[in-house]
Amino acid sequence: MTARILDGQALAQDMRAELKAEVDRLQADHGIVPGLSVVLVGDDPASVSYVKGKRKAAGEVGVHSVESKFDADLPQADLIAEIQRLNADDTVHGILVQLPLPKGLDEEAALNAIHPDKDADGLHPMNLGRMIRGQHGFLPCTPHGVQQILVRSGIDVAGKHVVVVGRSTLVGRPLANILTQKGPGANATVTTCHTGTTDLAHHTRQADVLVVATGVRNTVTADMVKPGAVVVDVGVNRIEDASRARGWRLVGDVDFDGVRDVAAAITKVPGGVGPWTITMLLYNTILAAKRAHNIT
Ligand SMILES: NC(=O)c1ccc[n+]([C@@H]2O[C@H](COP(=O)([O-])OP(=O)(O)OC[C@H]3O[C@@H](n4cnc5c(N)ncnc54)[C@H](OP(=O)(O)O)[C@@H]3O)[C@@H](O)[C@H]2O)c1
Repeated sequence: MTARILDGQALAQDMRAELKAEVDRLQADHGIVPGLSVVLVGDDPASVSYVKGKRKAAGEVGVHSVESKFDADLPQADLIAEIQRLNADDTVHGILVQLPLPKGLDEEAALNAIHPDKDADGLHPMNLGRMIRGQHGFLPCTPHGVQQILVRSGIDVAGKHVVVVGRSTLVGRPLANILTQKGPGANATVTTCHTGTTDLAHHTRQADVLVVATGVRNTVTADMVKPGAVVVDVGVNRIEDASRARGWRLVGDVDFDGVRDVAAAITKVPGGVGPWTITMLLYNTILAAKRAHNIT
C-alpha cells in the first residue's frame, strides 16, 4: 500500500481563500478590518522568521497586522503594559506574544495578561478551560489545524480510535480534548501517549488515526502503524543534509518513507501540519473581530 498524501499546504490555501472572502465581507458589510498584533521581544532568528511569515499570511487574507518590537532587555512590567495597551485598543482583535521570550521574561505571566477575548493563540487558561467545557472560546491553533486537515480530507474520526503521541499544552493535550468533544469532526475515542507510556508501539498499532507530536525524529516507524491507518505528523526537526545548499532539511517525528507503505493516508513534513498554525491564528483573529462586533 502507498499512502495517500494529505496535502496540508493545499488544504490550508483553500481555508485561507475562505478567510479572505470572510474578511472582504466584514469590510464591505460592516466596515471592519480584523487586526492582529504580534509582540516580538529580542531578535531570535526563528522568531523573526515566524513573525515575517505571519505578517505575509495576514496580508494575503486581508487581516491588518501590526508588530510591537522590543529589545531583549525589555523589563517585564513594560511587556505587560504593552499587552494591556493592546487589550484596550479597539482596532486590535487578536494578540500574539511570540515565544520563546528572552531569558528573564515570564512567558506565563505574559500569556495570561492577554485578554481572553483577544487570545488569537487560544492558549489562555480561560480558553483552555472553555475548550474542556465545550464552550465557545478560541481553540489552540495547531491542534485545531490537525482537526481541519482530517475534516477537509474527508476523514471522519467519529467512533474511531485516535492515538495521540505527545501531551504538551500546545499540541497533544488540546488535540485529545478537541477530538473527544461530542460533535462534528470529533466524537473519537482517544488514547494519549507520552514518555511514561509502557510499550508505545502496542498503543500506536491500535490507532485508526495516529497523530505524532513529540519533537523526536522517528518516534514512529512502519512496524508501529496498523495497516490502513491515517497518520498525521506534527513534528518539525531540523537534520543535517549535505545535499542541500543550506546544509539541512526538515523532517517530522514519523519515518515517512517507511510508514507511507503501511498507512492509508499520511501528512508530509514540511507541507502538512506546518501551514495550519498560522491559518488557524488568522481564523481566531477574524472570529475575535466578529465577536467584538456581535456579528455571526
Ligand atoms: N505548526 C507546526 O507545525 C507545529 C506547531 C507546534 C509544534 N510543532 C512541532 O511538534 C512537535 C511537538 O511539539 P510540542 O510543543 O508538543 O513539544 P513538547 O512540548 O516538547 O512535547 C513533546 C511531547 O512528546 C512526548 N514525547 C517525547 N518523546 C517521546 C517518545 N519517544 N515517546 C512518547 N512520547 C514522547 C513528551 O512526553 P512527556 O510529556 O512525557 O515529556 C511530550 O508530551 C515539535 O517537533 C514541534 O516543533 C509543530
